[in-house]
Amino acid sequence: MNDSKKSIKDYIKADKQEAFFKLSSEVYTDPYLFNLEMDKIFYKSWVYLCHESQLKVPNDYLTTYIGEIPIILVKTEGGKILGLINRCRHRGALVCRQEKGNSKFFRCPYHGWTYSNDGRLLGVPDRDGYPEQFNMEKLGLLKIPQLVNYYGFIFGSLSSDVPEFENYIGEAGKLLRLIAQKFPGGIEVLRGYHKYGVPINWKLAFENAVDHYHAPFVHESYFEAVGHNPGRRIDLRSKDLSLYLGKGHLVDLMFREYEIYEVDEKGSPWYLNNNGNLTEIEKKWASKITFHLAIFPNVIVFDVASPGPTIRVIRPVKVNYTEVYSYYYLPKNAPKEYKEKELRASLRFYGPAGMGTPDDLEVLKLATEGYKVKEKEGKYNDLSRGVHRDFRYHEILELVNAEMIGHGTDDTGYRGFYKWWAKIVFGEELDF
Ligand code: FES
Ligand SMILES: [Fe+2]
Repeated sequence: MNDSKKSIKDYIKADKQEAFFKLSSEVYTDPYLFNLEMDKIFYKSWVYLCHESQLKVPNDYLTTYIGEIPIILVKTEGGKILGLINRCRHRGALVCRQEKGNSKFFRCPYHGWTYSNDGRLLGVPDRDGYPEQFNMEKLGLLKIPQLVNYYGFIFGSLSSDVPEFENYIGEAGKLLRLIAQKFPGGIEVLRGYHKYGVPINWKLAFENAVDHYHAPFVHESYFEAVGHNPGRRIDLRSKDLSLYLGKGHLVDLMFREYEIYEVDEKGSPWYLNNNGNLTEIEKKWASKITFHLAIFPNVIVFDVASPGPTIRVIRPVKVNYTEVYSYYYLPKNAPKEYKEKELRASLRFYGPAGMGTPDDLEVLKLATEGYKVKEKEGKYNDLSRGVHRDFRYHEILELVNAEMIGHGTDDTGYRGFYKWWAKIVFGEELDF
């Protein structure tokens, strides 16, 4: 088949009345789709870039990617955060090879053209060798046209023609705001982070962060080690929920009223005392709920104590190769013991040598092996769990207006993600 003739029907079969939702394995293996996703998702929409606390003082910079495009984020001398395309205007080499640092200039390693950190081309070796018409003012590093700082979370877009940020972030914005404001003084990302490459498609890394069904199986050894092993039992009485917030944004939400929070004599966690930033419903969330918030297409914020505060950034490299960056964040003004405990919790689970992440990566690789099967019916993933039920029952959910709510173990997140994906990549609405 001519690739450009492919449609959503080649990848998804779904029928709400008949209660099935089938996803072809090819969504994770088809190089044609990978290129289409770069174009339609990563280059035409908003993408998470970093947290403002990673650029602390003037001239701090970090390098990252939007899709396959290399980017530099920098805090200029004047304190403004800018996004630059990390590509020399001479022969195209990366002008910055470091992942982070502090510098007023970027000097291209190839022929030494030198740029200021606000992108201006300041000097080229042997200027006299160029004609009079050679205009350095027109040869600065290109800027990312769109950059937004949303409660400290920085998002950008390579397209000047994207929907308003508020429109893109939608209901997920309320939860980002909550994460940012839950702690008096806000949060900060720690200097050190982990980065690992995995031979899987980027969507697997994104989706698994809100897949609750796997936890008792894949993470059995972790639960055993930390002493609250539920066994290989799916407990539908647990109030864990899977929310689809619209626009591709997903939440895995857990009500945790046990040992996680240290509370004062009124039963309130320390950070809620005198915290005037939060509304009543936000306070209820902050004291009773912990969640994983997956923001389409490339970041998951693991809210405190679930099991540790982490920001996971997904970088698609190839159709079958993905890099994952794991940043750890903490409340800036928290007591020292609290910080130490939270960081330990994060590393214990999410670190590459932790008890959670390596197990997740193992099963995602196993899934990728299975995706080599191309048999007509055998190549489909079944995502029908929970199609027949709705868990829209809890008053605490009033904070966000979710499009779909399933039990934590339901495939609600997958269905929501692919509903949005179908719309963005193929311009088609799935009736689901
Ligand atoms: S490619 Fe950068 S100076 Fe030549
Ligand atoms: Fe997991």
